[in-house]
Amino acid sequence: MLEVQAVILAGGKGTRLRPVTSDVPKPLVPIANRPLIVHQLTHLASCGVTDVTLALGYAAERFSAVEGEAERLGIALRIVVEPAPLGTGGALRWCADEGAFDDRPLLWLNGDVVASPDPATLLQLHRDRASLVTFWLTSVRDVGDFGVLEMASDGFVERFLEKPAPEETDSHLVNAGILMLDPKVLQRIPPDSAFSFEHQLLPGLVRERESLYGLFDGGYWLDTGRPSHYLAANRHVLERRVDWEPAGEMVADRLWEGPDVVRDDVTVIQPAALGAGTNLSAGARLFGRTVLGDRVQVGPQAQLEDCVLFDDVQIGDGAEVINSIVCSGAKIGRGVVLRDAIVGARAEIGDRNELRGARLWNDAYLPPSVLIVDPR
Ligand code: GTP
Repeated sequence: MLEVQAVILAGGKGTRLRPVTSDVPKPLVPIANRPLIVHQLTHLASCGVTDVTLALGYAAERFSAVEGEAERLGIALRIVVEPAPLGTGGALRWCADEGAFDDRPLLWLNGDVVASPDPATLLQLHRDRASLVTFWLTSVRDVGDFGVLEMASDGFVERFLEKPAPEETDSHLVNAGILMLDPKVLQRIPPDSAFSFEHQLLPGLVRERESLYGLFDGGYWLDTGRPSHYLAANRHVLERRVDWEPAGEMVADRLWEGPDVVRDDVTVIQPAALGAGTNLSAGARLFGRTVLGDRVQVGPQAQLEDCVLFDDVQIGDGAEVINSIVCSGAKIGRGVVLRDAIVGARAEIGDRNELRGARLWNDAYLPPSVLIVDPR
């Protein structure tokens, strides 16, 4: 067991991923048929982290299913719900005031990141440097959307720039939403207030040359905030670029299946994950990097590639679903083309419509042959 406690911030609204997150909070959205947060808990448990707090707000009631998973993993899970969204810093301070933390180092994970950092290495650096905040960093080509850190050769954080222009810094190392904190730092956050740790506390700590360090080990990282990243995360898990396990049993090289899958005379190119009770009609073709949830039905001659279909989705005969997300219970008609599209839960798309680069909201209905969307 590792001498740390962990907190996962999972109370955000996930607006950029709508309509996927209109029904399901982002940390519960499935990655390769397992809720993202369950992957995170599984990784933490495998690293000896057994004491985890979930900081919740938006759709908190939906997280009760996670409790059973945590128990199965040997994790003592504490759920703390904010009365209103308090932002990252406010949420951490709320948890502290609710008595969730003791004085052990606190590993903070954002509930939307796909990564498998080694908490022991992070803890080692944190202890060796008597650090107040130790960042597990990632490197991105375009830093404009991120909090960028500039560090000395020993990892000491010298500068922090939020969403900088390219000419402002040479650094590509960014805050990945995975940090080790000395819980004392939470006392610098005002109680009962909305407060951003990154925007309102961090810049001051860096200016005052507090003991902040960063660790970059080149480990896999992706945040699932945007649809293209969400699809990439599923793809990368199937391709085993990150140490997260799809649901089901691996029945062939990078092909996972739940029980009762029917796929006679179906072409399945790996990698793919097929949920329990999935039924693929003869002549359907899966061209790779496809995730199908439980009880998905796919009609004859349908073609799927690079897509994620949630539970109970129906795909009509000859439909084509490429680089798209289809949420639970949606019905896709015959001959429909979905490319770079998102279809909301329970939406119904009549035969022969074409959606390219479009998002269809939950419960929407499109009569047959009425729409061709191609914004490009
Ligand atoms: P967007 O609305 O698309 O920006 O997504 P988000 O609401 O998830 O925000 P963001 O991606 O910045 O959040 C990063 C992490 O912090 C996610 O895991 C969120 O669930 C979590 N988070 C964001 N705001 C809050 C909050 O006010 N309270 C709690 N408990 N968690 C939060």
